[in-house]
Amino acid sequence: MSRIRSATFQAKVMSAAEAAAFVKPGDNIGVSGFTGAGYPKHLPGAIAERIKEAQARGDEFPIGLMTGASTAPELDGVLAETGAVKFRTPYQSDPVMRTAINRGTCDYVDLHLSHTATQIEQGFHGPVDVAIVEVTAIKEDGTLVPSSSVGNNPIYMDAAKKVILEVNSWQSEDLEGMHDIFYGGKRPPNNVPIPITAAGDRIGQTTLRVDPDRVVAVIETDDADRNTPFKPLDEDSKAIAGHFIDFLKNEVKQGRMPADLLPLQSGVGNIANAVLFGLLESDLTGLTSYTEVIQDGMVDLIDAGKIRVASATAFSLSPEYANKMNDNAARYRDSIVLRPQGISNNPEVIRRLGVVSCNGLIEADIYGNVNSTHIMGSKMQNGIGGSGDFTRNAYISCFVTPSVAKNGDISCIVPMVSHHDHTEHDVQVIITEQGLADLRHLGPRQRARVVIEKCAHPDYKDALLDYLERAEKTANSLHTPHDLREALSWHVRMLETGTMKA
Ligand code: COA
Repeated sequence: MSRIRSATFQAKVMSAAEAAAFVKPGDNIGVSGFTGAGYPKHLPGAIAERIKEAQARGDEFPIGLMTGASTAPELDGVLAETGAVKFRTPYQSDPVMRTAINRGTCDYVDLHLSHTATQIEQGFHGPVDVAIVEVTAIKEDGTLVPSSSVGNNPIYMDAAKKVILEVNSWQSEDLEGMHDIFYGGKRPPNNVPIPITAAGDRIGQTTLRVDPDRVVAVIETDDADRNTPFKPLDEDSKAIAGHFIDFLKNEVKQGRMPADLLPLQSGVGNIANAVLFGLLESDLTGLTSYTEVIQDGMVDLIDAGKIRVASATAFSLSPEYANKMNDNAARYRDSIVLRPQGISNNPEVIRRLGVVSCNGLIEADIYGNVNSTHIMGSKMQNGIGGSGDFTRNAYISCFVTPSVAKNGDISCIVPMVSHHDHTEHDVQVIITEQGLADLRHLGPRQRARVVIEKCAHPDYKDALLDYLERAEKTANSLHTPHDLREALSWHVRMLETGTMKA
C-alpha cells in the first residue's frame, strides 16, 4: 500500500531535483534529523547540486541550516561541501561541517537542544523559509507518521513558509504509535505546565500536523538511516561503567534513590554507550530512562527487561540495531516514547522526574568545571547538545571520560578548562577509568583534591597536585586558588609541543 494515503499530497509528488527548486539563495532551512536518524535522504543532495550549479555560474547561494541535532553525510556533509552553509544550529558532528565551522566559513550557534524550538518559534534565528522533514507515511487525513527522530520537526513545519516532505518507506510502518507529539505549549507569558510525571507518560498525539497548503512537494525515498557504529568496549570504558554502577547502588543503599533508581539519561558517544552495556551486566532492574537518544545499549536493556520504559527524541542506532528496530518496532512501541526535543530535554520535566544524567566530556578541571565542546579552547568538536539541559537540571549530574586522550599526551583533567560548558555549580560526579569523584557537599579545594586523587591519570597526578599546592600559596584567595599565569599552560604546551607532559 502506498505510504502517501492522501490524494492532496499524492498530487504533490515529484523528484528531489524538482523539489530543490523551491529552495532559494539566502533561505534558512529547518530540516529533520537527529543523529543519523530521520533526516531527509535525497533533497539535501539535490539542493547541493543546485548550489554548485549556481556557483559554477559565479553566483552566491548562501543558506542557513537548522536541524534537530547532528545528522549524516547525506545532509550535513553534502551541504557543507558546497561551502554555502553560512549559519548552522544546533548540534553537529559531521567532519566536513566541523571543518567549515573551524575554518570560520560557517557561523555555528551552539544552542542547548531544549532551547531551539522556542527560540525558532520566537524568531530569534530569523524565519524558517523552508522545512524539509522525513516522515514514515502520510495518512488519509493528512497527518504525518513521524520517522526515527522527532527533534524540532513540529516547530519547523508550523513555522515554515514552505514544507517539503520525504516519505521514506525504509522506515517501519510499525513506528506509528511510538511518538508522542505535544502541541500544548504556548508562548510566555501564557505557557502551561508540561504534564509529564513519569518517563513513559504520553501527553500528546501520535502524528505530526502540517498545513497542506504550505506543502509544496512530496518526495518518495527508500533509504536506511545512517549512524556510525560505536567503538568496541575496551577495558577503560568497562571500568568507567563499573564505577558508575557502584555509585548508583550505593545511592540506593544510602536511601537516596529507590531500588529501581530514578530515570537515567545517557549522553551521546562511545563512553556513554559503554555505560549502558555495563548496566546490562549489573543486577539493577525495573529501570526507566528519560533521555535524548536511544542507543544500542538501551535497546539491549529493554530486551533484557532491565529498562521498563525509555523516553527520547530519536534513535541513534548502529546499522545492525537500526534493522533490529525496524523488524520489531511493534514490540518496542510499548517501551519507547519518541517526543519533540523541546520535551525530551525539557528542564521542567528533567527536574520534576529527578533524572540522573550521564554525559561524556572533553576535559574537566580540578574544581569540577566541564568543557564538552572545544578542543584546546578554540576548536569546535560537536556542540553542547543536550548535555546542559540535563546536567543543570538533574537530580544527580555525572560526567564520564577516559582520564587521558591522544595516547596519553592529553590529560582530560586539567588545572583550568579551556572552555566552559558546565560550571562547578552544575557538576556533581566525575568518573574516569581511574575512579569516581563525588563532589557533592565539597568546597572547591576539597573538590580539587578528590578530582586529582580519584580521576587523574597517574602520569598527571603529581603535576596537578603540585599546581594546586603552588596556587594555594600564591593566589589572591584561598576559595578557588589559581595561578592565572599557569592555569592554561598545559594547553599551551600541548599546542606548542604536542603533549601536555612537562
Ligand atoms: N583533548 C583533545 N581531544 C580529545 C579530548 C581532549 N581533552 N578528549 C577527547 N578527545 C577526542 C578523542 O580523542 C576523540 O577523538 P577522535 O574522534 O579523533 O578519536 C574524540 O575527542 C571523541 O572522544 P571519545 O573519547 O571517543 O568520546 P565520546 O565519543 O564519548 O565523545 C564528546 C565525547 C565530549 C565529544 C561527546 O560526548 C560530545 O559531543 N558531548 C557533547 C554533547 C553531549 O554531551 N550530548 C549528550 C546530551 S544528551
